[in-house]
Amino acid sequence: MGIGGSLEAHSSTLAILKYEMMLIKSLGAQIKIINLRNIKLPLYNNSSVLKGKIKDMLNEIHTAEGYIFASPEYHGTVSASFKNIIDYFEFLAGYTPPYITGKPVGCIAAAGAENAGATTLQTMFNIVHNLRGISASNSFAIGSASTMIGRKGELKNEHVKRKLKRLAEEVYNLALKLK
Ligand SMILES: Cc1cc2nc3c(=O)[nH]c(=O)nc-3n(C[C@H](O)[C@H](O)[C@H](O)COP(=O)(O)O)c2cc1C
Repeated sequence: MGIGGSLEAHSSTLAILKYEMMLIKSLGAQIKIINLRNIKLPLYNNSSVLKGKIKDMLNEIHTAEGYIFASPEYHGTVSASFKNIIDYFEFLAGYTPPYITGKPVGCIAAAGAENAGATTLQTMFNIVHNLRGISASNSFAIGSASTMIGRKGELKNEHVKRKLKRLAEEVYNLALKLK
């Protein structure tokens, strides 16, 4: 399950997430992408009742065997829309097992500045651990993310492609071993 992107029409984070999920599919996994722009999720509220499409989405999230989280860096941390869907994971507290217990998560932080993204990546690790997941060690931050995406949303950077391949293999293999 890939979760991420930004609310922008031509999100570089989404393009990177799509490439990563395509790699995971090529390894043999069934994949699904939750594009944060498309789902138009209202702000999480502790008194919301879990029903309808959001309930279906959370059930699917809970059933998934591994995850790729991809967030742009906004002011040194994850975007509000990424954090918002994470807040909905609170509904999974009462599921068995709770949250995403014992499942692997690859994290990708896509930043604008050349050497940025590390603080966002660290936040993503903290989120994964709080959700009782296992963060993949090949998770990484990408600086100058938007410059790596072509007009048609294609990923142009070979170095990033190699890192994505390593991450895809790690998450896929961990998911197989841990399920
Ligand atoms: C509200 C906002 C805050 C941002 N803050 C940072 C930041 O702190 N550091 C950084 O390197 N880039 C920052 N950026 C740039 C984005 O991280 C960068 O453009 C990213 O690739 C956007 O992802 P997207 O193409 O998926 O929308 C910010 C952009 C926005 C819109």
